Amino acid sequence: MTGRRSLAAGARAFAGPLSRQLALGIAVVVAPVLIALLVIGYLMVVSDHAALLVAAIVVGAGVLAALAARVVARSIVRDVRSIRDGLEAVGRGERDVAIETEVGDELGELAAAANAMIAQLAAEEAARDLSDAARRDLVAAVSHDLRTPITSLRLLAEAVQDGIVDGVTRRTYLQRMNTHIEALSSLIDDLFELSRLEAGDISWSLQQVPLEELISETVDAMRVEAEAKGVAVRAEVAAALTPAHGNPERLQRVLFNLIQNAIRHTPADGSIVVRAEPVSDRIEVEVADTGNGIAADERDRVFEAFFRGGDGAARGPGGAGLGLAVSRAIVEAHGGTIWLEDTSQGTRVRFSLPATERLSGAPR
Ligand SMILES: Nc1ncnc2c1ncn2[C@@H]1O[C@H](COP(=O)(O)OP(=O)(O)OP(=O)(O)O)[C@@H](O)[C@H]1O
Ligand SMILES: [Mg+2]
Repeated sequence: MTGRRSLAAGARAFAGPLSRQLALGIAVVVAPVLIALLVIGYLMVVSDHAALLVAAIVVGAGVLAALAARVVARSIVRDVRSIRDGLEAVGRGERDVAIETEVGDELGELAAAANAMIAQLAAEEAARDLSDAARRDLVAAVSHDLRTPITSLRLLAEAVQDGIVDGVTRRTYLQRMNTHIEALSSLIDDLFELSRLEAGDISWSLQQVPLEELISETVDAMRVEAEAKGVAVRAEVAAALTPAHGNPERLQRVLFNLIQNAIRHTPADGSIVVRAEPVSDRIEVEVADTGNGIAADERDRVFEAFFRGGDGAARGPGGAGLGLAVSRAIVEAHGGTIWLEDTSQGTRVRFSLPATERLSGAPR
């Protein structure tokens, strides 16, 4: 097998370009036929005229075959060249390349495979560029969110240290410093949580979580903040709801983030409802508010880390843009999903969780 292959390879190397390889193949067929005919003619003592005629026919057929081979070889060579040119273009960094061949034979299949490879390469590069850009944005956002309070802290600390402020101002400054430190520490907690979750590091214990208790506890804890803004908040939990399978502290954090957003974006006299109900074999929890809602062009982005919607003035104080990103990471780590439900007024953020009977999909 190898011997035959290397003989063929040797003959091809000897012939050179494809058109000559085909001509060589034809010569290999025609020459012995011609010799055989001449020998037969000689042995059978056919007239010179007849022998010459047969020889001329054989030579003519050989020439015709060589011409046909040349035409076919040119077409093959054109296809090979277009594949080579396409791949060279990819090598130079072009990605908008579609290799075309004249015929859908093996060369056509080769071109199709190359086109598929180029498309995959382009898609992978685009995804990598996107994630590089996202990482750069993240670093810029983290630096900004750390730098701003640290600058304020430095100025406040200098003022207190220099003793240029009276006792009352000093206390106010210390209080402001405390607020900045709390914001920084919650930013760092969120970032830490998010990076651990994104790395798949989930070391929490999972247990049966009676959502009725968890929701009413969280709603009660946030009622003061809501009522201070003139916003009513209540829970509506389906009767005899199956407990969820999850980590109560993380789930409370999700509820806290969603209710905090709702309070932040709901004007006085508005209301917030936290619902929980079974939906097929899962449990769905929703925080709905009657606030200013989320703009259509921002709906796809609110779950991204550091995304803050609206304009600065409407946004109000605080908010690193991590609450929904952390909530999504927590819900997904539970094997659930979180999304924005359509609504004519305000915002409805809904998430699903596995119920206790179905432990298989959830992390342990
Ligand atoms: N209930 C809501 N009503 C209107 N807009 C909302 C609501 N919840 C979230 N958003 C929009 O989604 C953005 C992202 O929310 P997210 O909770 O991730 O960040 P944040 O609340 O701005 O900051 P953080 O949660 O880190 O304090 C918000 O800035 C806001 O524009
Ligand atoms: Mg938030």
